[in-house]
Amino acid sequence: MGERSYCYHCSSVPQFMDLSPINKIMIAIYPGSFDPITLGHLDIIERGVILFEKVIVAVLYNPNKNPLFTVEKRVEQISQCTKHLPRVEVDSFTGLTVDYARLQQAQVLLRGLRVLSDFEKELQMAHTNKTLSQDVETIFLATNKEYSFLSSSTVKEIAQFGGSIAHLVPENVARDLRLYYS
Ligand code: PNS
Repeated sequence: MGERSYCYHCSSVPQFMDLSPINKIMIAIYPGSFDPITLGHLDIIERGVILFEKVIVAVLYNPNKNPLFTVEKRVEQISQCTKHLPRVEVDSFTGLTVDYARLQQAQVLLRGLRVLSDFEKELQMAHTNKTLSQDVETIFLATNKEYSFLSSSTVKEIAQFGGSIAHLVPENVARDLRLYYS
């Protein structure tokens, strides 16, 4: 049932807006490249399942990028390291994230924010997505400060030169990276 409310800018004009709390099932899409998934990503997923009914981790198939792992491998890696979590699905998609969200009937795009430099790109992306779909909200979670320095590219660089990555990625991913660079 909508509540009666007044326009914020010209309070004399009554408006009818549905201000009742959202009582729908909230499905969140957590989109990304995940090449590969890091402990920072996993932390966002673990916190996401506390907030949402379902979290769909969606690996973007991007024909313009040259990833280390195939989309199928990344989906497998994420599925393995999230199997202890309820209500997490892992999938892949191509095209626009908002189209994929619509397909999944998701209301939320979940993204992690590590440092200030992430903010500009993420805000731009959130605004762009809003112009493409009014129905989807982007919600940011501050990345655990323990992982604020962490990125998939850093992990790959360390692994390439034989450095330790056990504290940066899930065990199965560390194994895959060691194998790849051996
Ligand atoms: O892990 P990443 O590479 O930072 O993730 C970026 C991602 C996949 C979320 C973003 O590139 C994306 O949504 N791409 C799909 C294309 C799209 O929807 N573009 C319009 C919004 S910018």
